[in-house]
Amino acid sequence: MRMYDLIMKKRNGSELTTEEINFFVDGYTKGEIPDYQVSAMMMAIYFQKMNKRETADLTMAMVNSGEIIDLSGINGVKVDKHSTGGVGDTTTLILGPMVAAAGVPVAKMSGRGLGHTGGTIDKLESFPGFTVDMPIEKFVENVNKDKIAVGGQTANLAPADKKLYALRDVTATVDNLSLIASSIMSKKIASGAEAIVLDVKTGSGAFMKEEDASFELAKEMVDIGTNVKRNTVGVVTDMDQPLGYAVGNILEVKEAIDTLMGKGPEDLTELCLTLGSHMLVLGGKAKDPKEARAMLEETITSKTALGKLKEFVGAQGGDSSYVDNPEKFETPKIVEEVLAKESGYVKGIKADDVGRAALVLGAGRETKESIIDLSVGIMLKKKIGDYVKTGEAIATIYANDLQKKEVSEKILLDSYTIVEEKILPNKLIKGIV
Ligand code: URA
Ligand code: CA
Repeated sequence: MRMYDLIMKKRNGSELTTEEINFFVDGYTKGEIPDYQVSAMMMAIYFQKMNKRETADLTMAMVNSGEIIDLSGINGVKVDKHSTGGVGDTTTLILGPMVAAAGVPVAKMSGRGLGHTGGTIDKLESFPGFTVDMPIEKFVENVNKDKIAVGGQTANLAPADKKLYALRDVTATVDNLSLIASSIMSKKIASGAEAIVLDVKTGSGAFMKEEDASFELAKEMVDIGTNVKRNTVGVVTDMDQPLGYAVGNILEVKEAIDTLMGKGPEDLTELCLTLGSHMLVLGGKAKDPKEARAMLEETITSKTALGKLKEFVGAQGGDSSYVDNPEKFETPKIVEEVLAKESGYVKGIKADDVGRAALVLGAGRETKESIIDLSVGIMLKKKIGDYVKTGEAIATIYANDLQKKEVSEKILLDSYTIVEEKILPNKLIKGIV
């Protein structure tokens, strides 16, 4: 087989066979096929597209390019959740304990990565002593014992995707549905997921800004799941504004604790109940989302989900007394309100910009080497549809540096659109695929 022939075949609009897809993914991973040929192939795929079978084959070729985490030692169906980006998204910290308390094993591989705030692991490290450093045997043991554990991603997970994504990034070939969907799904499957609930964000703060495109992406991923025998449900949800009120690491952990106590923001609570319901159904614990939802609500009212958070934080070396005493978390030097400069209804809050306002404070990593300040961030006080008066607080900034606070404040004020006419709140759940 020659790469040249495969490029020409795809360029001319033909379907690639399973063997041909395996050949180029394997050859590229091993460094036997050069970047320039794979770039041409990505561009050919971009224009000629891939059908469902090719997309599923590409996914599995990327899964098989590296290590596949073996979770067969865990009892029960391993259901994973994935969110496509977003700002101030704390769902894992809430969903994990809820779903585990309802009896479905949560074997979560999480990342740190770059971003507006830290990843799930960074957030969990707000609990002094918490670690994800453990051998896979211990991880499996913890999931069987507590029904939940959070581990770090190994370097060798879907290495083909890592190379291809980096190449697509510099060759204007990221935004093709088959390529995005297979990239995301390959990482989930390589992490050992047997069933997957996808939270596909849509709106200003999302990867996909348009609702139609978000539904298409969800459908593409669900189709891959069906093709490779992983039950998959896609939930398209609003990311036209940050989720909940907290954007920052310790602030989000506190918001997660509040939510597990039944006192969380309405949108965050609703999202966790919706995603969690589908996880329980896929995990075989409930016959339909309605029954599942009642079970999850019970984990909050009975505080068993809160207990799960304490249990697993403790099992991974963290000081779980912070869950009952959140005032123990560090508060930064500067805590200041941001005041509205005009009166009216909040029409929009650019989620990306709120994320940037948090990043400027030090809540996230600008480069891999950046050190996160877990204590800083933003608490929004007004969301879409709320009325605000001139001089009233729209948010509170938590900072350790006055200059950074001032930059952040300016970004934050600009991220709000305030209008005279009444605005209705956004619909959170756009649909299920
Ligand atoms: N996220 C991914 O992991 N892959 C893509 O291709 C796009 C977004
Ligand atoms: Ca939040």
